[in-house]
Amino acid sequence: MFLLNIKLFKLMKKKIAILGSTGSIGKSLLKIIRKEKNNQIVLLSANKNYRQLIKQAKEFKVKNIIISNENNYKKIKENKKYKHINVFKNFSCFNKIFKKKLDYTMSSIMGLEGLQPTLDIIKYTKVLAVANKESIICGWNLLSKELKKYKTTFIPVDSEHFSIWFDLINIPDFKQVRKIYITASGGPFKNKSLRNFKNIKVKDALNHPNWKMGKKISIDSATMVNKIFEIIEAKNIFDIPYSKLSIIIHPSSYIHAIIQYQNGLSKIILHDTDMKIPIFNSLTYPFVKSYNNKEVDFTKLNELKLSNLDVRRYPSIQILNLIPKQFSLFETILVIANDILVNQFLNKQIKFTDISKKLLKTLKDQRFSKYMRLKPKKIDDIIELNSYVRSVINNYK
Ligand SMILES: NC(=O)c1ccc[n+]([C@@H]2O[C@H](COP(=O)([O-])OP(=O)(O)OC[C@H]3O[C@@H](n4cnc5c(N)ncnc54)[C@H](OP(=O)(O)O)[C@@H]3O)[C@@H](O)[C@H]2O)c1
Repeated sequence: MFLLNIKLFKLMKKKIAILGSTGSIGKSLLKIIRKEKNNQIVLLSANKNYRQLIKQAKEFKVKNIIISNENNYKKIKENKKYKHINVFKNFSCFNKIFKKKLDYTMSSIMGLEGLQPTLDIIKYTKVLAVANKESIICGWNLLSKELKKYKTTFIPVDSEHFSIWFDLINIPDFKQVRKIYITASGGPFKNKSLRNFKNIKVKDALNHPNWKMGKKISIDSATMVNKIFEIIEAKNIFDIPYSKLSIIIHPSSYIHAIIQYQNGLSKIILHDTDMKIPIFNSLTYPFVKSYNNKEVDFTKLNELKLSNLDVRRYPSIQILNLIPKQFSLFETILVIANDILVNQFLNKQIKFTDISKKLLKTLKDQRFSKYMRLKPKKIDDIIELNSYVRSVINNYK
């Protein structure tokens, strides 16, 4: 009977929602779904990229779409060609769309805008796969409360966290973990002469050696802020103190994490630099299915080239000394300030080196110190900080 149930479960079409389907993560998931036929997408969402969203909805026969950008929403809504699709302009439509719990949701919107929809969809989904870092970093206490309340399974999709999560799900007591190392490729400037850092151009910073990602996360990789975010994510997800988490440089990004146990053993978790691997595994969970990737080339293990971080090359790693031990609104200030500064760099308003400089200045600014002792009680506590942090940064010389 049990086996029969498992077989039936495997045959049933999984009902899926993708928040941020036009982005790098969203498109990777769609590539997987194109091959994995046993899925039915119920909802897709985008911000501006309505043409691609419509194309996706047509291809995957999706009945519901959300387009957040007001003008593009109107364009679709007023076009009779799309009247067979339910078009919504914001995420308050979930109760109209979902009559039963979805099987799987991917939260892959870029930025803090992803937090509200991620929180809101928890009660409508059995499994929530989260790529949106900002939700985990800034809203972890709100997220985990809802996950518990609605018995929703949480799966982190960042490659490092997925690797750790997959290894630790069978461990009853995290106290067995002595240390977790998260690897960093070192980004596009790991060998660049420090003297030339002041001349770094946007296109150079976007040129990640191993991964093809969205613009924002590519810049965060170049400054190493992405790894700071990942350390915070790991601390929140695995409830492990910062003292047990470290970053280690590994240029080929083949290893994603190293877990050192109290019993003297360590595990190195590796896979190809392909985000589709964690995404695929989160989709097929709780089953482990075969993924059609290349054979693992273990000779690459001869070239691990692990090394420690150089603070002169990555000044942002000093942030690790500033983060309070307990979860607080300080992490939100970090995320918002970094977002503002990365945008300014992308718009050529500041230099690459100014990102870390101004970020450190913001985090040391006395006006923000009280937030180190405060936790967000509701999502507005997080969102409301946006304009305040912006006004402080804009007044820096
Ligand atoms: N890319 C990776 O390899 C990777 C790896 C690990 C974690 N992550 C994390 O995953 C998240 C998504 O990353 P990504 O690289 O896929 O980003 P991306 O390529 O920039 O795509 C972001 C998605 O979010 C949508 N979006 C952006 N702003 C929005 C808003 N204000 N309201 C509603 N939707 C909005 C975009 O729609 P439009 O296309 O219409 O703008 C797009 O669908 C980020 O938090 C990132 O840090 C990414």
